[in-house]
Amino acid sequence: MAFDIEMIKEVYARMTERVDTARKVVGKPLTLSEKILYNHLWDGHATTAFKRGVDYVDFAPDRIACQDATAQMALLQFMQAGKNKVAVPTTVHCDHLIQAKEGAAKDLQFANKTSAEVFDFLSSVSNKYGIGFWKPGAGIIHQVVLENYAFPGGMMIGTDSHTVNAGGLGMVAIGVGGADAVDVMAGMAWELKFPKLIGVKLTGKLSGWTASKDIILKVAGILTVKGGTGAIVEYFGEGAKNLSATGKGTICNMGAEIGATTSTFGYDDSMDRYLRATDRADVADAANKVASYLTGDDEVYANPEDYFDQVIEINLDELKPHINGPFSPDLASEAGADVKAKAEANGWPLDVEWGLIGSCTNSSYEDLSRAASIAQQALDKGIEVKADFGINPGSEQVRFTAERDGLLGKFEKLGATIFTNACGPCIGQWARYSDPKNAPKNSIVHSFNRNFAKRADGNPNTHAFVTSPELVAAIAISGRLDFDPTKDTLINKNGKKVMFDEPTGDELPTKGFAVEDAGYQSPVKDGSGIDVVVSPESERLQLLAPFKPLGSNIKEAKLLIKAFGKCTTDHISMAGPWLRFRGHLDNISNNCLIGAVNAFNQKTDTVKNQLTGEYGPVPATARAYKAKGISSVVIGDHNYGEGSSREHAAMEPRHLGVAAVIVKSFARIHETNLKKQGMLGLTFANESDYDLILEDDTFTFSDLSEFAPNKQLTLEINHQDGSKDIIKLNHTYNTSQIAWYNEGSALNLIKKENAA
Ligand code: F3S
Repeated sequence: MAFDIEMIKEVYARMTERVDTARKVVGKPLTLSEKILYNHLWDGHATTAFKRGVDYVDFAPDRIACQDATAQMALLQFMQAGKNKVAVPTTVHCDHLIQAKEGAAKDLQFANKTSAEVFDFLSSVSNKYGIGFWKPGAGIIHQVVLENYAFPGGMMIGTDSHTVNAGGLGMVAIGVGGADAVDVMAGMAWELKFPKLIGVKLTGKLSGWTASKDIILKVAGILTVKGGTGAIVEYFGEGAKNLSATGKGTICNMGAEIGATTSTFGYDDSMDRYLRATDRADVADAANKVASYLTGDDEVYANPEDYFDQVIEINLDELKPHINGPFSPDLASEAGADVKAKAEANGWPLDVEWGLIGSCTNSSYEDLSRAASIAQQALDKGIEVKADFGINPGSEQVRFTAERDGLLGKFEKLGATIFTNACGPCIGQWARYSDPKNAPKNSIVHSFNRNFAKRADGNPNTHAFVTSPELVAAIAISGRLDFDPTKDTLINKNGKKVMFDEPTGDELPTKGFAVEDAGYQSPVKDGSGIDVVVSPESERLQLLAPFKPLGSNIKEAKLLIKAFGKCTTDHISMAGPWLRFRGHLDNISNNCLIGAVNAFNQKTDTVKNQLTGEYGPVPATARAYKAKGISSVVIGDHNYGEGSSREHAAMEPRHLGVAAVIVKSFARIHETNLKKQGMLGLTFANESDYDLILEDDTFTFSDLSEFAPNKQLTLEINHQDGSKDIIKLNHTYNTSQIAWYNEGSALNLIKKENAA
């Protein structure tokens, strides 16, 4: 499937020298994470030891993966860069836009109809620019990446937070916003704050009902949803070697749920086995030649406290099956009595209505085979199934193989619905209710990663619990949240007491993987003749026009909103129903800042239009100024733009004519995104100047013509009563970022340089 063995060999060829150099520069043995990071420095060899959690470093990732929801704006932007081809191997995966309702065949047909224009766009733009395209139904991005592209020691970025799944094959794989992906596609460096390192030492061996999922559910309970922030979690120890590669993928996948930058494992036999089983013996052979470079140094794992910022130890011999939730993946309970006590204390429904297996987290052959062994026992022992079952295989390859081997048939005999190889219920694409907002209180169990309110079915009263596929199977069959398969009995159809035996399964299919049509479209060699067609009437897609430079003469700009308190990227560009317009900048701009609180009336989406004196929605007010050729200014509080790296939060204000965002402090990624879109992202030199801003103010930048690194800018604030304040503003633009501003955007500059 067009994985690039030459590129992988190149990564390995330079690795020994670069890692040896890094070891000298750092002055001590290295973790695996450091080896991968230092081998991917944009500038080549390490010349300095980076400070973890402090230094911003430029990297050169090996690959990019995009899913269909985020790829739209990323590729629309890439088209602006004036390139013929993406600079690094890239794939697009259609998995988020497929609803789960009646079963794979009908649901896929429906998605192909309702999202045809989006899929056609992604297919043609991929074909034109040398991007591998995975059609709807081909599988979930992270499972497909693990099966085809992930490789030990590699570095990948992806426009989805669970890109981290590829750590199961020893990668450093990180979820990013579209703007970052576009930079790398266009041949630019990718910047990351050098992460801190958390070591997780695994001793012992999983047995019985415990699964890889229980390791990460336990870690989530220890670290909580924020505990991994800014850090790479590196797993090691005998316990790690005993896990399958896909099991390692599950653990890394849910590293996103503890906020970790990513997670990874050192190269071992399980990865060798998985690479060979997925038709990549050449990658395994190449990896074996540099095996000691694809894991942490011995001394690091012998004395982890000396090398990691934090160390956690888990003994797998003692680990119990876990069930985490509801509403947060770090709310950890042990299966059985523990969850029962908590459910009774908190009023969580103990009857379970659905059991869902699959998603990018847990849809490997091993997962399906272990869960199927429980399904088979229900059939053999005459146990009636109490809850409904839904299965989302992770890829067509897994689905085809699991069907061939009779695994899916076992679930179907229990009445399960086999949904499309896609995200489905994991991302709220589950047509469970006609009116989810008013649906009843209930519990479901699933083997996914996230369980926030409404995530699966839109019902705020659904209590979703995360657990392993085998436990999902047992709980769904029993219909009880507090079912403990190691102790509890069930009454079968003949009135007899029966118990489940421990789950069994195959790490990899004994007859090998098989697939008839994996759903892959290889790009043509020369895409120059391909037209990317976007209908001007489309409400979901819109070709972008380059932003015009704002220039050095910003005068009499009007206040659009003075945002009060927290203003995250969700306040700036809301998700939910707006996701539909992700590929249409003008339409999605109608959500611009509608969640921000106006400091003058404490209301959302109600600001004064200085031209009419009337109050109205933020986007309409911005459009009114823009129509008259008047720039506008957004004022914000602390940590403005925190949350996600969503580039829409910068593109929308830019599109609506906002020239400057002036705040007490920025979330750094959002600040950079503003810079990339050719806008001014500035901070008050004196924080209390925020209080000087009044509702009818206009702003004039008096020295923008001298815009230079490390030099403050001066702002004249003209008040309605004729008085004025003159204040200083700080900025963090370097020379190249000022060039972005001068050209109107980073992409405009790339295009210009490309044409030169
Ligand atoms: Fe899809 Fe859910 Fe994974 S949305 S990519 S299956 S986290």
